[in-house]
Amino acid sequence: MERRRLGRTGLRVSVLGFGGSEIGYESASQATVDRLLGSALDAGLNVVDTAECYEKSEELIGAALGARRSQCLIFTKCGHAGGWSRADWRATPLLASIERSLQRLRTDHVDLIQLHSCGLDVLKRGECIRALQTARDRGLARFIGYSGDGAAARYAVECGAFDTLQTSVNVAEQEPLMLTLPLAIEREMGVIAKRPIANAVIAQRSARGGYGSEYWRRLQKLDYEFMKGRDAIATALRFTLSVPGVHTAIVGTARPGRFEENARHLEAGKLPATDMKAIRARWSEVADRSWTGQT
Ligand SMILES: NC(=O)c1ccc[n+]([C@@H]2O[C@H](COP(=O)([O-])OP(=O)(O)OC[C@H]3O[C@@H](n4cnc5c(N)ncnc54)[C@H](OP(=O)(O)O)[C@@H]3O)[C@@H](O)[C@H]2O)c1
Repeated sequence: MERRRLGRTGLRVSVLGFGGSEIGYESASQATVDRLLGSALDAGLNVVDTAECYEKSEELIGAALGARRSQCLIFTKCGHAGGWSRADWRATPLLASIERSLQRLRTDHVDLIQLHSCGLDVLKRGECIRALQTARDRGLARFIGYSGDGAAARYAVECGAFDTLQTSVNVAEQEPLMLTLPLAIEREMGVIAKRPIANAVIAQRSARGGYGSEYWRRLQKLDYEFMKGRDAIATALRFTLSVPGVHTAIVGTARPGRFEENARHLEAGKLPATDMKAIRARWSEVADRSWTGQT
């Protein structure tokens, strides 16, 4: 599997990473996650992304990696240790959350700790950024990042404090191509594409509950030509990984074998420039100002 340099961190990341929210929210069993991650590592995966609030995701990953911890890079997030609706951006709870993540992940450090989508005002106050810097100084994390979208993501890139940006980039989410990615390239930041296949709503031909509904609404209007073909998911994934500045795409899954399936989709390499141009042109024609970053 192709690896790319994650900006100025210098880490070499597999272009296809693992998104750890589904295994938590879908209550995957330990045996399922063992099989899923074991075979993905064998197939070249080296990026595992999770978060403090994805139910049991961190514990499942920690137990599944076991002795193979050193074969991959672990990225996690902080800010919602008490659950998604109970954010806390003060330094003490953030540092406690990071310590808890290390225990759950069975490791003495993570490779990347990310602020989990705090708003612009919180970022500007700076306490949460200083907390991450403290975690890095203490050796709890090698690098620090921001995960989120829109104006807060733009500020995270501008402020110069973060090594990486994790943001939604996909065929139904092209705002970052103008808003954050050009500056992230200039600043040599690592870029992690979240929701890289737009929650697979193209494959399901419907919104997945409430979560993917905005993307489904947009895609019905975008009505890309490629959506009619059998390779729609492959094209969507190749689009994301062909966007300048993107280093890795963390596809979420709770299904063993998906990583290998998606890796095969990438064997064809980047999307041809004409296809990229067509998808970009259609977005420019159809997208309106309300089509902003979905967190
Ligand atoms: N605020 C934040 O920081 C934030 C927000 C959102 C996401 N994230 C991170 O980004 C990761 C990815 O985002 P996401 O999971 O929301 O969206 P996604 O990766 O775009 O889509 C995941 C969905 O796609 C399905 N899927 C995967 N490969 C497929 C294929 N080849 N064909 C058909 N369906 C396929 C998965 O179902 P199966 O289980 O059936 O494979 C899953 O339901 C998350 O896991 C999380 O780590 C972070």
